[in-house]
Amino acid sequence: MLRPLGVLGKRVRSLLAGVNFKLQGNQSSIISANKQDKGISLAFEGCCAIISALMISANNVSLQFGKRVLFDGVNITFNPGNCYGIIGANGSGKSTFLKILSGDLDTTSGAVSVAGGKRISVLKQDQFAFDEVTVLMTVVMGHKELYKVMKEKDELYSKPDFSDADGLRASELEGKFAEMNGWDADSEAGKLLSDLGISEDLHQQQMKQLEGSQKVRVLLAQALFGNPDILILDEPTNSLDVDTCNWLEEFLINFENTAIVVSHDRHFLDKVCTYVCDIDFGKIQMFSGNYSFWVEASQLALRQRSDANKKTEDKRKELQDFIARFSANASKARQATSRKKILEKLTLDEIKPSSRKYPFINFKPEREAGNDVLHIENLTKSIDGQLMFKNFSLHAHKGDKIAFVGPNDLVKTTLFQILMGELKADSGSFKWGVSTTQAYFPKDNQKYFEVDLNVVDWLRQYSVEKDENFVRGFLGRMLFTGEESLKKVKVLSGGEKVRCMLARMMLTNANVVILDEPTNHLDLEAITSLNKGMETFPGTILFSSHDHQLVQTAANRIIELTPGGYIDKMGLPYDQYLEDSRIKEQRHQLYSSLASS
Ligand SMILES: Nc1ncnc2c1ncn2[C@@H]1O[C@H](COP(=O)(O)OP(=O)(O)O)[C@@H](O)[C@H]1O
Ligand SMILES: [Mg+2]
Repeated sequence: MLRPLGVLGKRVRSLLAGVNFKLQGNQSSIISANKQDKGISLAFEGCCAIISALMISANNVSLQFGKRVLFDGVNITFNPGNCYGIIGANGSGKSTFLKILSGDLDTTSGAVSVAGGKRISVLKQDQFAFDEVTVLMTVVMGHKELYKVMKEKDELYSKPDFSDADGLRASELEGKFAEMNGWDADSEAGKLLSDLGISEDLHQQQMKQLEGSQKVRVLLAQALFGNPDILILDEPTNSLDVDTCNWLEEFLINFENTAIVVSHDRHFLDKVCTYVCDIDFGKIQMFSGNYSFWVEASQLALRQRSDANKKTEDKRKELQDFIARFSANASKARQATSRKKILEKLTLDEIKPSSRKYPFINFKPEREAGNDVLHIENLTKSIDGQLMFKNFSLHAHKGDKIAFVGPNDLVKTTLFQILMGELKADSGSFKWGVSTTQAYFPKDNQKYFEVDLNVVDWLRQYSVEKDENFVRGFLGRMLFTGEESLKKVKVLSGGEKVRCMLARMMLTNANVVILDEPTNHLDLEAITSLNKGMETFPGTILFSSHDHQLVQTAANRIIELTPGGYIDKMGLPYDQYLEDSRIKEQRHQLYSSLASS
């Protein structure tokens, strides 16, 4: 069987031009060649090494966009039974690397190889690409080979003049179809869809009839369909509701093949990853264990390195104890058990100090608020004729850290906008306590940056103290140093703007902090710092976030706000909130009343 060299990089392909060689279906090795000279046999050696990789690997991969070197001689192998979490700062090249792996993007040099006959599946981002296709067929299309056979078969059978040759071809296709489990395709696709909360009456609808959040789930089903050998997901949890997110976590934990995911979601990374791959300065380093393990181990290594007085033996023991603690906490899930084994085998030299920089986020109230922070009574609001919430009442006390959750982000944004005086409620009222001051982080910060100022002058507008060193101090905490703070705010990236907004909030010393989806553009380090800042803040917080861990660790009160009513639970961590059977029933009622209205 002749395999196309599509997945190999440009360089290897050009070296092999004009050479015939065969790859044996599943063995991934070159078995014959009809032309040999020195250069070519060298290329062959390289190629054999490349292709004999277990599942998928990048070999000496470099990539350059213009002058910018994104990857420089990357060597990495991904094997079955593992889930690899790809992390790195914004713009470090995570998405680009996934495109190189899937063969959607050519390398400047070096090659990617995939074990013979193995199927790669990629989560598609374009929600409109399948508009004219039925939901069920969109899922089946995830298995390209199978879909091609199905289509050709259908075309053959609908021919008015079915010849003998057609008959032969048809039987060949039937064979392939059966081999790929074609007869079960519809029922498997249907089951996946139902598992993902897409009800059966939608399966035969066209994609364009679905709403955004449903399309995202169908595209996820498409990626997972037919048990791909290599599954590539770029930020899969971004637009997923919490229940689908949990479902995906379970799926990946039980997935026996190779999964490679990019994510900023620490809860997700911790649950599913057996390895963390860190992209930094054009290189990719792979570490055993999940995200938390990587963070804590590399921080510990950093502390140890700076502590010259400590004996090597003590350091070794400290690290060993640390690994033992981590292994003990691994849950009973299959993946956790294998993760535990990986950690136990880890040699201490493999843990490297982190060079990552964490911003310092610390909200400090100037004065304490009284106990009555906020009273809301029977607040009702519709936007463009769509009900957001009805008769919502709340009494917020000092020290409450309230996470507003629910599938519709506009509901939460609308509430915050009303509380900040940017919108008017249709009916009902609210009142802030007299001693409160608020710092607000809006979800959309565009209007704050439509000015011709550099970063220092921008922040100075919001500061009572105008001294440049004072203002720069706040910027420094948010990792804007030297030149960085002289950039015009108009050109800042999404993540940089968010850091400016957080610096602005810290300056105000408010005793109530309102944050609407603050983690959206942040990298993992900034999210971790924000998380800490919110945990230690002694005042009151109202926030919304899709970051599971932030809600889990920073909130002491959960309010699920929907047009059909709301649930308000105090003192229950988010995980317990989601697992509690009585709350499950309440949530179910909320959402079924929504569906029927
Ligand atoms: N086709 C392209 N041409 C030039 N630059 C690109 C191209 N695609 C991506 N980039 C740049 O490469 C960098 C990495 O992008 P990306 O992989 O999307 O980052 P990440 O997913 O880590 O945030 C960014 O600076 C981006 O602007
Ligand atoms: Mg990306």
